[in-house]
Amino acid sequence: MINDLWYKNAIIYCVSVGTFMDANGDGIGDFKGLMRRLDYLQGLGVTAVWLMPFQPSPHKDDGYDVADYYGVDSRYGDLGDFVEFTHGCEQRGMRVLIDLVVNHTSNQHPWFKEARHYPNSKYRDWYVWSKKKPKSANTGVVFPGVQKSTWSYDDVARAYYFHRFYDFQPDLNTANPDVQAEILKIMGFWLQLGVSGFRMDAVPFVISQKGAKVRNPVEDYDMLRTFSQFLTWREGEAIILAEANVLPDTDMKYFGTAGERLQMMFNFEVNQHLFYAMASSDSRTLIKAMQATKRRPLTAQWGQFLRNHDELDLGRLEKQQRQTVFSAFGPEPDMQLYQRGIRRRLAPMLQGDRRRLELAYSLMLTLPGTPVIRYGDEIGMGDDLSLPERNCARTPMQWSTEPNGGFTKSDKPVSPVIHDGAYGYPHVNVADQRRDPNSLLNWMERMIRMRKEVPEIGWGDFSFLTTRRPEVLAMQYCWRNNAVLFLHNLGSEPREVHFQLNEAAEKGCALVNLLSNDHSQPERNDKHGVVLEPYGYRWYRVCGLDYLLKRSAS
Ligand code: GLC
Ligand code: CA
Repeated sequence: MINDLWYKNAIIYCVSVGTFMDANGDGIGDFKGLMRRLDYLQGLGVTAVWLMPFQPSPHKDDGYDVADYYGVDSRYGDLGDFVEFTHGCEQRGMRVLIDLVVNHTSNQHPWFKEARHYPNSKYRDWYVWSKKKPKSANTGVVFPGVQKSTWSYDDVARAYYFHRFYDFQPDLNTANPDVQAEILKIMGFWLQLGVSGFRMDAVPFVISQKGAKVRNPVEDYDMLRTFSQFLTWREGEAIILAEANVLPDTDMKYFGTAGERLQMMFNFEVNQHLFYAMASSDSRTLIKAMQATKRRPLTAQWGQFLRNHDELDLGRLEKQQRQTVFSAFGPEPDMQLYQRGIRRRLAPMLQGDRRRLELAYSLMLTLPGTPVIRYGDEIGMGDDLSLPERNCARTPMQWSTEPNGGFTKSDKPVSPVIHDGAYGYPHVNVADQRRDPNSLLNWMERMIRMRKEVPEIGWGDFSFLTTRRPEVLAMQYCWRNNAVLFLHNLGSEPREVHFQLNEAAEKGCALVNLLSNDHSQPERNDKHGVVLEPYGYRWYRVCGLDYLLKRSAS
């Protein structure tokens, strides 16, 4: 069977070009700057870069309000720079995924401008209109507290238009075949310029029926197959990584039972329960979340992440669970957002505690799927809560102790660089951590390197081991006659666990520690006993290091 689908075991790194590195000194990160940091990303072990929206945009939602799908915002460079960038990535063996934001456009997009001015324009039907204010206008907002409605009146069109997100983001009428054809054209364009796929924004809304009269919107899942077929016809290895925060029982609808729809989805279910598990020192609901999302076609993969550019959405947890996560990781009202989430970066959520950061990353790297890292989290960057909404966690990358953290020579960076406090760039930056063998950055690089040598995680079948300690997560992956085992102590107390390996053939096997010298020999009853430090973790190979000689071909 195939084992070389690149995304099944990738290391994806999410970067926003505007806040990574400013080469021309105007205060805004750009492609030329990003290109100079490709060696850094390669050194870290990244195998794919997910680029956040960089197309021309009024930037009222950090570029998620696109005004031209076929260009590069002049603040970041031009199409030539983009191609230099994809080429630079290719040379270093890194793939490029870009955001595909086609649920809506900016209200400054020429399509929308024409649609509102000319009722007979073909673009009129590219958006979703209603003469009268729909009854549902005040429901279904995505940003409660900031966004008031999903229908707004347009003076020029003399009609209401639908917007799932902010009012400057009119929804595209994705049921219109012309709109669908345009989406394919957009994908084809960027594929030709060297990308390997798309992080598709807001997928459930893209495929949902839209309109004033729609009471119970139905999803058009077949649209996903259309997208995916087109992609693979044009470029066999291209994928869609979907942002779809949906319930586990619809996962297979998104993947397609035979894998004919989306190749990847972010695992929001596991993400929320992972934070609950860390907040409550209890692995049980995380195990449930992994079991609930276990089923997927062989060719499909989960994207496992800790934090991203949005708030940590806890909307799917029970009220009590959400409260537990809030109290542990975001107790102040100002740290919370949209009545459902936490807007902080990972490091401050975990109080900068190195043990907890390592535990969190070790989990992310070993959960079933492909890890997705947010830029800056590899050095433990903090947030700036004085910035509005999600902007607090979108501050520039901290490269060095030079002014503005080495991000720009300008004294007016596009977003303030974090300067003060424990997370300020004088304390948290790449240059210092590069020199320190014990830094988080160097730890991460070593972990990524090891993760790449454990393809069992991406391909294998996982099962849990019984330890009778809910604070300890013990899981094992098996693939091609090889097995690996991971222990994570979610609690703040040391824990001793005793467990038996799952397979009969593994009785009497030693566990070889992949990260340090303390291996585990089975006791007389074939059980292993391991003492885990507070927030401790272990990566083991089952049965010794000659495993590669035992690996079977299928
Ligand atoms: C997605 C993005 C978010 C954006 C929204 C509207 O949820 O992750 O950042 O605001 O879509 O495009
Ligand atoms: Ca610049």
